[in-house]
Amino acid sequence: MFKAEVYIKRREELRKKMKKGLGLFLGNVESPMNYPANTYHFRQDSDFLYYFGLDLPGFAAIMDFDTGRDTIFGNDFDMDDIIWMGPQPTVRELASKTGVTETSPVAKLEETVSQALSKKRKVHFLPPYRGETKMTLGAILKENPCMMKTLASIDLIKAVVSMRSIKGDEEIAEIEKAVAIARDMHVTAMQMCKPGIREQEIFGAIEGIALSKGAGTSFPVILSMNGQTLHNHSHDNILKKGRMMVTDAGAETIMHYSSDITRTTPVGGKFSDIQKDIYEIVLKANTESINATRPGLSNRDLHFLACKIIATGLKEIGLMKGDSEEAVKAGAHALFMPHGLGHMMGLDVHDMEALGENYVGYNDEIKRSDQFGLAFLRFALQYVPGHVFTVEPGCYFIPELIEKWKADRKFTDFINYSKIDKYMQVGGVRIEDDVLITAKGHKLLGKPIPKTVKEIEAVCS
Ligand code: GLY
Ligand code: MN
Repeated sequence: MFKAEVYIKRREELRKKMKKGLGLFLGNVESPMNYPANTYHFRQDSDFLYYFGLDLPGFAAIMDFDTGRDTIFGNDFDMDDIIWMGPQPTVRELASKTGVTETSPVAKLEETVSQALSKKRKVHFLPPYRGETKMTLGAILKENPCMMKTLASIDLIKAVVSMRSIKGDEEIAEIEKAVAIARDMHVTAMQMCKPGIREQEIFGAIEGIALSKGAGTSFPVILSMNGQTLHNHSHDNILKKGRMMVTDAGAETIMHYSSDITRTTPVGGKFSDIQKDIYEIVLKANTESINATRPGLSNRDLHFLACKIIATGLKEIGLMKGDSEEAVKAGAHALFMPHGLGHMMGLDVHDMEALGENYVGYNDEIKRSDQFGLAFLRFALQYVPGHVFTVEPGCYFIPELIEKWKADRKFTDFINYSKIDKYMQVGGVRIEDDVLITAKGHKLLGKPIPKTVKEIEAVCS
């Protein structure tokens, strides 16, 4: 946990934004995997972590925005718990770590909320994303659990998003630690990327690094020589020369701050000419986009910049044609890069996605497009100091999509379908880094992770 002052200050700021009513925060509970006592790895809710820091199952909190009283709801361990799980601090001791003096058993939560509702006070809560939380909220609020997302407080969502979007120094230090773990994971993956090895072995090795140095991975590792599938979670292949392995993997620190890094390595550690053709284009999109980031620019503009670099590069090697700016405007480049440039990152790897992507990445002025490719851009807003986000351009040869567009004669003014065959074996290339917006420009987070052709070939040898 951070010092109590960090959480006290965050709650003070939230109180100023909300002014009235109650804020009801449910921490996560243990979730059974295959029978009740065999639970999934416990992950605390990120908003609960942000405002209260307590990283244990079964806690809740109420902030009374009118009176300024905060209460932690939790149950002290009884003897049975201690026998099986060892001694634990009391709820009062835990609450004091987050600067809260009032505590109450969980059983009192429903009564406290009911009293507020009977006085017609507004109870604000955030949209739940787990069945257990929906059920508990439904029971406490006496509402249909299926309606909990719809009934969540937009005022509270907006207040929380406005705070969590701007990272404090203590958060940035954590994210840097998470990138350092990711660096070890990626260097190991590059060194293991040899013909004959099963992807699963590399997957296991780098997941082990994340677990041995932090709280594990920040999302299920994506690792495959079939990188043309953007989020490939199957690791069954035996690596073959001629293919490229996409590794999209990040770590969570013990405090649950994330990193999210992607590197693409040629199997065997040496780039062929066609691999280099595509790799250099994506690398240029990655480095030039990162170099352009500064306060005031929007992430949507950065997305267009990266797409234009991809389209221009693909034109130079004959895969695209015509005016690159026009091609990007029309969405033709999305055949090769059908995703957004990146997303905010923090306590969640897709930060605050549970609160609603459009509250996090869009506002009343910048609305989400429905154009194929651009529609997947999660974060489009103007940068301000304290924003942390990923920059992850890619270029993919997705057989099904290429076949469909070719049959539909889509964007024939911009795409040379007859030239694509030669590059199909490249599969996919993605290069991702984590960036912070500073007062004057930006900072690439963490120590550099091998990225140029020369650096990757050196690590692999
Ligand atoms: N690293 C996975 C993603 O950004 O979706
Ligand atoms: Mn990412």
